[in-house]
Amino acid sequence: SRTISLAVIPGDGIGQEVVSEGLKVLSAVLPQDVKLETKTYDFGAKRWHGTGETLTDADLAQLKEHDAILLGAIGDPSVPSGVLERGFLLKLRFAFDHHVNLRPSKLLPGVKSALAGDHEIDFVVVREGTEGPYVGNGGVLRAGTPHEVATEVSVNTAFGVERVVRDAYARAQARPRKKLTLVHKNNVLVHAGHLWKNIFDRVGQEFPEVTTDYLHVDAATIFFVTQPERFDVVVTDNLFGDILTDLAAAITGGIGLAASGNINPSGEFPSMFEPVHGSAPDIAGQGKADPTATVLSVALLLQHLGHPDEAARIEAAVAADLAERTGAQRSTSAIGDALAARVSG
Ligand code: IPM
Ligand code: MN
Repeated sequence: SRTISLAVIPGDGIGQEVVSEGLKVLSAVLPQDVKLETKTYDFGAKRWHGTGETLTDADLAQLKEHDAILLGAIGDPSVPSGVLERGFLLKLRFAFDHHVNLRPSKLLPGVKSALAGDHEIDFVVVREGTEGPYVGNGGVLRAGTPHEVATEVSVNTAFGVERVVRDAYARAQARPRKKLTLVHKNNVLVHAGHLWKNIFDRVGQEFPEVTTDYLHVDAATIFFVTQPERFDVVVTDNLFGDILTDLAAAITGGIGLAASGNINPSGEFPSMFEPVHGSAPDIAGQGKADPTATVLSVALLLQHLGHPDEAARIEAAVAADLAERTGAQRSTSAIGDALAARVSG
């Protein structure tokens, strides 16, 4: 019999509510012979207020023992901006080498896009997850003076770029349309931009069936809105990927539906699955949050752990549920119950 050892990090705000529903659907979809063992961790604002800790080495050692991590959301207005983002979320992504930040976007039938007109949208953004301006390289000179200088140095290594680009090619190769678009800004960010483009072109020789394209990030934002069907797989750096995937969520039904996987492809470290949305403190505790993004993140988790049939059943359940949504608001747990019933039925 197989076991999934899952670290559960509900976190702050609506994180608690949406993770409960994700677990509900996960339990419902797993076959009898797969045992689910969960351990819940209390990371987030409360712990930081209590102990001043965000994520310690001892925490990382414990998390490392699990097969995967399910995260709700971390962040609260009572904590200074950046403390939990850097001290928890980015620390975890970096420590566990989550260099493939996978963010699929699909406009499902019955879902209202922010775009006018009919569009067929089905692409996945492969966002680099461990480099770029996110590394925290830089600093401040002459702080507090009118001559203050702040730098955020974007780090791009050949090793880091090549591995994420190769992963994106492999994903494109496995999809029917086999198309990969590199998004960067190599007309201005010439150092990093050319590193990305050169590696993209070189690795592409290993994937002759994949059609390639290159777009500057500003142009890409236009095409995401005017012609999203031109995208199949998109590969880009950490910051461009952050921005583009919020836009991608907006055109495919909103942040309530956007799932993500922070993947360590080698399996040396557990991968982490989380909705793209944040902790939404304004609606926390009211049963208003849509748990669908978390449920779809559970599907990515199952896919990653080698349970593609169960992942597909969750996706089908979500599609069926979305197709029947009437506009009447259901509670977080009502949506979770409906999805759990569909995957078990
Ligand atoms: C995301 C978030 C994070 C990011 C923040 C909270 C650090 O916006 O997962 O997209 O920028 O990666
Ligand atoms: Mn983001």
